[in-house]
Amino acid sequence: MVADCVQPCVCLADIGTDHAYLPVWCLLNGKAQFAIAADINPKPLANARQTLGTYGLEERIELRLSDGLQNISADEAQEIVVAGMGGNQIADMIETTAWLQDDAKHLILQPMTHFEDVRKALLENGFQIEAEHTASEGERLYLVISARYCGEKHEAPEWYLYAGELVYGTTDTDRQFLQKILARLKKRADALKEKDTAESDSLFTIIKEIENECRASV
Ligand SMILES: C[S@@+](CC[C@H](N)C(=O)[O-])C[C@H]1O[C@@H](n2cnc3c(N)ncnc32)[C@H](O)[C@@H]1O
Repeated sequence: MVADCVQPCVCLADIGTDHAYLPVWCLLNGKAQFAIAADINPKPLANARQTLGTYGLEERIELRLSDGLQNISADEAQEIVVAGMGGNQIADMIETTAWLQDDAKHLILQPMTHFEDVRKALLENGFQIEAEHTASEGERLYLVISARYCGEKHEAPEWYLYAGELVYGTTDTDRQFLQKILARLKKRADALKEKDTAESDSLFTIIKEIENECRASV
């Protein structure tokens, strides 16, 4: 699903690449001519080196040690993937990497947690969420957010930060993902009923707003 979201490009940067499976797939399938496979740890880069050897792609994929986007510069890649990391980590990268604020850069983000932090960081920093996709593997559900800088900063309503484009989703996994988010919000709202009534009420309001938005979009 992440690879499907990558648009044809000269160079793809895959941040947190681990075994470099994604850039290899993108090169073999004509999505990118070159790639930078970056990771914060040397061990995944050693695994990635083996993968490149297996596919004979050493000349077209550069391995790079980098914390987030810190060692990637503005003119190197057009498609930027950050997959399999915490949403708070991804939000931090969006907030601290000024060169992402360019409509020639396409972001493909696959947070494992804190999806709302990613949407908030995008919208408050002038990015537009172009699409959201979901997929499942076994019991697990995954979300991909595709975004691009548009220069307009928004303060989105809280319900949107939690549900995003999934309220308009049409697939079974979109609906399952949204149900999972709603169940989590409800659990938190129930747990806070005694301790923090105001916070609990505000979470119940968010749940209602998401449900209303879903009904309105049918
Ligand atoms: C769970 S793996 C995800 C691998 C692959 N992107 C995927 O989605 O299947 C997370 C990878 O991100 C790397 N990582 C964690 N924090 C990072 C950071 N701040 N910058 C770059 N890489 C990071 C880890 O070393 C690890 O290889």
